[in-house]
Amino acid sequence: MLESEEVLGGDWDFVGEDTQYLTHGLHPYPARMVPQIARRLLKMYARKNDVVLDPFCGSGGVLVEARLAGLNSVGIDINPLACLLAEVKSNPIDPSILESWWKELQPKIVQDTNSSKNKEVVAELIKFHKTSIRYWFKEETIRKLAVIRRHIRTIEERDIRRFFAVPFSLTVSDKRACCNPQAHKNDRGKRHKKVLCGPLLANSKGRLRYT
Ligand SMILES: C[S@@+](CC[C@H](N)C(=O)[O-])C[C@H]1O[C@@H](n2cnc3c(N)ncnc32)[C@H](O)[C@@H]1O
Repeated sequence: MLESEEVLGGDWDFVGEDTQYLTHGLHPYPARMVPQIARRLLKMYARKNDVVLDPFCGSGGVLVEARLAGLNSVGIDINPLACLLAEVKSNPIDPSILESWWKELQPKIVQDTNSSKNKEVVAELIKFHKTSIRYWFKEETIRKLAVIRRHIRTIEERDIRRFFAVPFSLTVSDKRACCNPQAHKNDRGKRHKKVLCGPLLANSKGRLRYT
């Protein structure tokens, strides 16, 4: 443990500091702890071989900082999205492995996206019927989402499957990327610009560069 005075003496605002480094910027999550605060607290209170517990870990910023400090950690959260993000953010995967997965996945996704008669995609679409997805997305976008979702779910390696679920979540949660313009007109009264569906794949690819 460092001397508290040495650490506490500094500024705790971290104004202007990059809070999105490494995997911290992988996916937005509400009320995240500023990573620099977590880092400083770990410096102040954690000792070698300690295990850090964040019982409300959110998207796992503290767990990432624990890992960077060479400490094991445990995170708990009631929100499944938080659990996904915390796990993916704090378990680095060699980018070359992700690149090779993406090279394999992308052509299959593009091919299935262009084929409207794919039976598995149709089955996937039926599952969406009872949801509000049609409120948010155009029909064509829903079909693309179904294709991507199906390909992600068929990845057997847990780490890789969970990793690709993160940009998928980002794409779905950023409704501006492929919206039903009418839904956006209604959404809190804001009217977003209509953007074509291209970003759907571009987002997934861009997010590969996360190191
Ligand atoms: C402010 S966020 C966590 C921020 C996180 N500790 C960080 O460092 O960025 C609070 C989290 O508590 C989770 N939460 C709320 N009630 C909970 C409960 N009863 N059990 C587990 N997690 C809970 C929420 O899902 C949310 O992700």
